[in-house]
Amino acid sequence: MRALVTGAAGFIGSHTVDRLLARGHEVVGIDNFDPYYAAGQKRRNLSRALAHPSFALREGDVRRVEDVRAAFERAQPEVVVHLAAKAGVRASLADPQAYLEVNELGLLHVLEACREGRTPLLLASTSSVYGASAHVPFEESDAADLPLSPYASTKRAAELLAHSYYHLHGLAIAALRFFTVYGPRGRPDMAVASFTRALRAGRSIRLHGEETARDFTYVDDIVDGIEGALRWVQGAPRYGVFNLGRTEPVRVRVLVEELALALGCRASIELGRLEPTESPRTAANIARAAAAFGYAPQVSLAEGLQRWVRWYLESPESPHVAGEE
Ligand SMILES: NC(=O)c1ccc[n+]([C@@H]2O[C@H](COP(=O)([O-])OP(=O)(O)OC[C@H]3O[C@@H](n4cnc5c(N)ncnc54)[C@H](O)[C@@H]3O)[C@@H](O)[C@H]2O)c1
Repeated sequence: MRALVTGAAGFIGSHTVDRLLARGHEVVGIDNFDPYYAAGQKRRNLSRALAHPSFALREGDVRRVEDVRAAFERAQPEVVVHLAAKAGVRASLADPQAYLEVNELGLLHVLEACREGRTPLLLASTSSVYGASAHVPFEESDAADLPLSPYASTKRAAELLAHSYYHLHGLAIAALRFFTVYGPRGRPDMAVASFTRALRAGRSIRLHGEETARDFTYVDDIVDGIEGALRWVQGAPRYGVFNLGRTEPVRVRVLVEELALALGCRASIELGRLEPTESPRTAANIARAAAAFGYAPQVSLAEGLQRWVRWYLESPESPHVAGEE
């Protein structure tokens, strides 16, 4: 199969590329090496893929229609996995316009190109679309119409735009709502990475609300879900939204303790208040993805954190975000 992966150099994108190559597919990746975090980390993410004869990388920006067209031209894709996005929740407050342009206009360009070739599409969405929903665990049939951040609202808008392309043009599209993904190559702005840096530096960790809980999901389980959804979109023109989580929400305080254990460090915790962009808890009901394509997450938090720590300690540079001590 020929696949085009957008956001290929990112955390989930590079794992997706590696998996598709391991399955014998031909893969073209597009990424603009957005400066949100270090381009060096993204290039390392792709180091294995770049040595593979069935992989080609195009540096390009999904905001530019000609870059998207050129990537489709090169890939001649039978399926597209659209992961390119501005992905930080809190950062979306500072630059909402960029979020709108990448996450909505960028998707529009991808949808138009998919329409021309009638190419099935997977689209990365997020548990953030559920906002502060009190209906736990979150189900795909929940309204998801009260987003708490520009990021979440652009992702929900992306799902809606994609639905209109299914409806009007008969495209097969699956929108995958990922729940707090972690693991090797993890984004340096996310909790697991920033807590790791703080624990190793002996800094205390400020929690946003004592009871805050997240349905942390190991990246290999997410890639299993992407593979399952790839089979699903190749069946027939249809549109589906699917939660991909682990279904075992963990209090963030417990995550810090488990991480400290895996690192052999002592944890010192301060309590802050819940940020207005954050949901107090996320929890996935995954029955729909289980029924549609056999999604069944495998990796426990303890095992996943050990794999993360092993990767982190072996990394040539500790992944970090600009401006952090
Ligand atoms: N990591 C998570 O927990 C999580 C949770 C929910 C949803 N998601 C979604 O999954 C997808 C992948 O997230 P990730 O964690 O791997 O993030 P990431 O930032 O590591 O990967 C995104 C990639 O997209 C690229 N990109 C950004 N803007 C682009 C543009 N204009 N043109 C081309 N490429 C561009 C970036 O350079 C980056 O390599 C995103 O759509 C994100 O919103 C992630």
